Amino acid sequence: MAACGPAAPAKEPAPPSADPTSAAPRAPAAPAIDTALGGRLFDKFYGKEPPFSAFVPDSSKTQGVLDGQGGPSGNGTLRLGSGEAMSNDAGHDYRLKSFFGWDLKGREGIYGPSAMAKGYAVSRNLLGGRETREELVLLFTKGDHEIPAYGDVLTPPQIEAMAAYVIGVRDGALPHPDQIFTIKPPAQGYYALLPGGDAARGKAYIEERCSSCHGDDGTEVLFDDGAYSLGAHARQKAYEDWHKILNGQPGSPMGRQVRGSTGKEMAQEILDILAALCDRAAFPPGKATAKDVEDGDGRCGPYLK
Ligand code: HEC
Repeated sequence: MAACGPAAPAKEPAPPSADPTSAAPRAPAAPAIDTALGGRLFDKFYGKEPPFSAFVPDSSKTQGVLDGQGGPSGNGTLRLGSGEAMSNDAGHDYRLKSFFGWDLKGREGIYGPSAMAKGYAVSRNLLGGRETREELVLLFTKGDHEIPAYGDVLTPPQIEAMAAYVIGVRDGALPHPDQIFTIKPPAQGYYALLPGGDAARGKAYIEERCSSCHGDDGTEVLFDDGAYSLGAHARQKAYEDWHKILNGQPGSPMGRQVRGSTGKEMAQEILDILAALCDRAAFPPGKATAKDVEDGDGRCGPYLK
């Protein structure tokens, strides 16, 4: 087991407070809404620990049996905008990421019919519209004909944070998925990373920011019941990992991993990190059980090593 400590003990590490970029003067602060928390709630709003809801979704494995916990009916279901109970038989687990996809675009995006064709992807594209923050707060609070009313399980500030996250991605204060990947047909793996990533810079970010938890080669923590190492996951699911790097992993100590002050800067950091993770020797599958990508796989494209 590698120690959970600095990745490069040979170098003299600067004390964290000496980072000159963190002391740079900033424009007047925007209202203190935690968009990373908003992104994590968008990903998965329930979990064991606060601030996540104690809700446990009705299991999609037991079709027709309402066996969850919490929510307005106490059985792990939520209600549509009409007030009608919404079933989880389709397996969306009531997560906004299920309805809108990791790229927030609904049926026009990675979960839509031209890519993964998830049956629960909705018609609204959160990045295509011009909803005001108030309109999004109302939508997430009350639900509509396709998405549930989160007002029954989340607090107003939590819903505000989800709306602020969406608007940040849509309007450029946060990275936009179109700066990171493009959608491809199913036979080509659903997506491809965009050009312009700098794998060497990404590797330095990983040493500095990820290794203490994920291990130097990203095999210390395996995801999805041991199926993927950090590298193997990123080579096959970067359309999801951009969101995790931006916002963190719900229910884990991992928070936002980017440090830029504009959406463009943050998108570049994410693309650099994802490009670096396309190196199979530097970030191997380790003991992970799922197959890694083959030579020539288009998702990493020219970054694949
Ligand atoms: C403070 C510790 C910590 C740091 C720092 C950290 N992570 Fe994580 N990360 C975790 C933990 C714990 C998980 C959760 C694993 C799980 O859910 O099984 C996780 C999950 C992830 C996932 C989600 C995989 C999935 O299941 O979908 C990705 C992707 C990821 N990390 C990438 C990174 C990258 C890239 C960095 C650095 C830029 C980083 N992490 C930094 C601890 C950390």
